[in-house]
Amino acid sequence: MRIGSDEHKQRFCRQFIASHRQFDPAILSWPDLDDAALGRLRGIPFWQEVLYTERRAGAIVAAYAATIADPLVREAVRLQGFEEARHAELLRVMIHRYRIAADELPLDEPISSNPRRAFADFGYGECVDSFLGFGVFKIARRSGFLPEPLFEIFDMLMREETRHIVFFINWMAWQQTASGYGAQWLRTANAAWYYSRAIGRLLGTVRRGRSANDRKDFSATQAGVFLDGFTFRGFLKECCAEHARRMAGFDSDLLLPRLLPTIAGVALADWRRVKLKYMRVLE
Ligand SMILES: [Fe+2]
Ligand SMILES: [Fe+2]
Repeated sequence: MRIGSDEHKQRFCRQFIASHRQFDPAILSWPDLDDAALGRLRGIPFWQEVLYTERRAGAIVAAYAATIADPLVREAVRLQGFEEARHAELLRVMIHRYRIAADELPLDEPISSNPRRAFADFGYGECVDSFLGFGVFKIARRSGFLPEPLFEIFDMLMREETRHIVFFINWMAWQQTASGYGAQWLRTANAAWYYSRAIGRLLGTVRRGRSANDRKDFSATQAGVFLDGFTFRGFLKECCAEHARRMAGFDSDLLLPRLLPTIAGVALADWRRVKLKYMRVLE
């Protein structure tokens, strides 16, 4: 199968559509939480940000879907938009059920005058967030930071995000080939450019989050349960291992996101030098 061909398009769109699961966030098996677990859940400082991000995701993806001429690609992107909106709904249900303090802020309007560019920026952002999220999720789950039934619910979300990034990487290659920019070096350069933008945005979010949460003591919410013994190297290893595990279930003919795991793998292999150079950031 040639990347960028019609067969490629059929594969990545049809696999995405066929792997969609139906569920209603309101009737999932939400567990009853004791006071300690409730305190930990409510103490997580980023629910408002996550809710905003998922609502914005739904709007960006839906706006782009409306501009797509190809019916199959449009159907797949529409479905992704539906799943993003459902992520927001799932968060709303959780916030309401466990009385978490998180407001629904108005979305920035207009989202973008260029829906395709907004979708591309969003897609690479999801690749970065998912890669790091895989590690966070694994460490938090293993530490029993929250009851397992909650992780089972969050895992449905992670599974969908994994499908989104695989779909996205293939869509990107397919449409670049269709517009005559399909050469490998061009695709790599394009990905590197978008990834650097996505990482820049993520660092901005972290900085904003830090100052916004200055007065909230996250460690007092027993985040230490999973931050105990935390090292950046161990965290990157978990990200890579989880990335590999979650990607293993996809059609081997499809492209998979690989820039971040490759960079992380190179850094892990030569950790001493990385540590010396970036010590202050990593420690
Ligand atoms: Fe999402
Ligand atoms: Fe997503």
